[in-house]
Amino acid sequence: MAPRRLFVTTALPYANGSFHIGHFMEYIQADIWVRFQRMQGHEVHFVCADDAHGAPIMLKAESEGLTPEGLVARIAAERPRYLNGFHISFDHWHSTHSPENTELSQSIYRALKAEGLIDTRVIEQFFDPVKGMFLPDRYIKGECPKCGAKDQYGDACEACGAVYSPTELRNPYSTLSGATPVLRSSEHFFFRLSDPRCVDFLREWTQSGRLQPEVANKAREWVEGEQGLGDWDISRDEPYFGIPIPDAPGKYFYVWLDAPIGYLASLKHHFDTGGAAHLTSQSFDQFVADPGVEQFHFIGKDIIYFHTLFWPAMLKFSGRKVPDNIYVHGFITVSGDKMSKSRGTGISPLRYLDIGMNPEWLRYYIAAKLNPHVEDIDFNPDDFIARVNSDLVGKYVNIASRASNFISRLFEGELVDVTRQPTWLALDAAAASADIAHCYETRDFGRALRHAMEFADRVNQAFDAAKPWELAKDPARRDDLQAICSVCLAGFHALTVWLKPVLPALAEKAEAFLGSGPLNWQDALRLPARVARYEHLMTRVDPKLLESLFEPAAGTAVAATDAPPAKAAKTGASKPAAPEAPPAGSGVVSIDDFNRLDLRIARIANAELVAGSDKLLRLTLECGEDRPRTVFSGIRSAYAPEQLIGRHTVMIANLAARKMKFGVSEGMVLSASWDDPTRPEGIYLLEVDTGAQPGMKVR
Ligand code: MSP
Ligand code: ZN
Repeated sequence: MAPRRLFVTTALPYANGSFHIGHFMEYIQADIWVRFQRMQGHEVHFVCADDAHGAPIMLKAESEGLTPEGLVARIAAERPRYLNGFHISFDHWHSTHSPENTELSQSIYRALKAEGLIDTRVIEQFFDPVKGMFLPDRYIKGECPKCGAKDQYGDACEACGAVYSPTELRNPYSTLSGATPVLRSSEHFFFRLSDPRCVDFLREWTQSGRLQPEVANKAREWVEGEQGLGDWDISRDEPYFGIPIPDAPGKYFYVWLDAPIGYLASLKHHFDTGGAAHLTSQSFDQFVADPGVEQFHFIGKDIIYFHTLFWPAMLKFSGRKVPDNIYVHGFITVSGDKMSKSRGTGISPLRYLDIGMNPEWLRYYIAAKLNPHVEDIDFNPDDFIARVNSDLVGKYVNIASRASNFISRLFEGELVDVTRQPTWLALDAAAASADIAHCYETRDFGRALRHAMEFADRVNQAFDAAKPWELAKDPARRDDLQAICSVCLAGFHALTVWLKPVLPALAEKAEAFLGSGPLNWQDALRLPARVARYEHLMTRVDPKLLESLFEPAAGTAVAATDAPPAKAAKTGASKPAAPEAPPAGSGVVSIDDFNRLDLRIARIANAELVAGSDKLLRLTLECGEDRPRTVFSGIRSAYAPEQLIGRHTVMIANLAARKMKFGVSEGMVLSASWDDPTRPEGIYLLEVDTGAQPGMKVR
């Protein structure tokens, strides 16, 4: 069979934040599949990029006093450390803010326009008169038109579940400036997805049996639904960080137009700079037009619409090849909780590496939970320890250490040929190998690993049944001892091949032990002739390590309270003693302790009374993130809401979120007051010098 030629991507992460565990679930899934394909001898080009454009990135950069390019560069600079750390084998990582992407996006747009699939239309939208920009829905809040709940987003009410459009909100305000938005009209560009050509094509493409059944069903609802496919608004007005629309001054492509084109841009850069030359002599243009090339995108369930409707249609009607499939996965939760960046319940991939946890434990654990369906998976600490320790160490690694012990001591590392050994034949490695390959191919990784571990169980059982420790005492049974150990090590060799897509670094160590050189899939049934001295391959997970992974992020020792915040902040100072820390209770903290507090400049975008509380004000704080935070602060006795709106002050941003009767408080503002009841009462909010920007660190 001729090698397959594959172009594989994962979704492009937004460049306004660091990686989180959800990204790594996706990269690990795709990386395992890609490594499996490479081991089959197929030609694989596996790329990704930063998704650099859009309003959130522009606004975040502004609040940090950076250019969008500067922010994107800062995020890009930290990427390789994580990607290498988890052994993610992308061939190339690029950016959507690149010449390749500009050129490709503009040329695809021109082609769509030439096909008559681009329309313009004047639409009315909320505009922030203070910021001087049209407001994306997520930056508009107000009172629910149904139930009157305050601070609801422009699309749906969290209190009563009503769904509406931002223009229906009562007393709407811009979360960027606090200003009341005004309706303004402007011309927008639309991709005419409702055109019968698009509808026919998408009906065929989504229902041709390629997509996962649950994904095809979703797509069918969208294509055949009562409303039919709506035209897609692909333009945004300046100011916007994006790619200019040709011949349309002041207009930019909406980020979701140029983002998937970034897949092609990354591949193009990879080809143009010679990165693919060892695999093909084709140019980028030849490669992407080649009908023999298969194209796959791994994505999460939240972005199916973009990838099964917009993206194939954009490619098709610009005269390009369409994807062969979109592989959709569910979300990862941690101990049943949805991840939330601001609340700190997620697992930080960087912290995972920093505290010295083995990246392959996570790869194995995630692989063991994955199947080809769009199902969420849960990271559960106890389950993690059990899987890694019992499967990887207890079953797989154990075989090598037990069998090689005799082989090194008594046979100088020599193995015998076990081709005709009944114990070897009974293990039926050939059948297992075919099964496991099929599971990898179909992304049924959990099943692949279950088959592998069942095989490992059979090997361990064969070893125990032969009672090698007794054979070792009887010189007449030396051959039997060498034979059973050889069978076990042949089994270990096969397992190493089968686990290699998941555990590339461990496989490398095992290859050195087996003297095999880099193993490919068809090597699984080859028998090793000798082994080197066994060196420890993998340690068990220490539950303490896992505890420290979940230790609350910096600063959470501070209890959130309705009491004046200055007092509460002080209690955060004493931390469990670090080696060089002063004795507990001395009141002295190390600089490291201090640095754990994420103090930032916040702009009070809004302040309001809290019905049912005479102590609290509800503050809306901009602190350099995509969305403002809500903080309940016990300063009502000292301030009227209107005195606060627009002021800058200092907040602690990494305080554990606290659920209160009135809502969740996501931080605390700092203020001064006496700790001593004999002194006058009074609370004084911290004031900040002019020029300080929301999001700046206080240190
Ligand atoms: N920038 C867009 C994608 C553009 S693709 C042309 C985007 N970025 S993202 O950073 O929000 O998400 C990147 C990928 O991570 C998506 O596939 C998304 O589904 C996935 N995940 C984000 N959170 C996740 C989990 N909690 N679990 C698993 N995957 C999740 O969307
Ligand atoms: Zn409501």
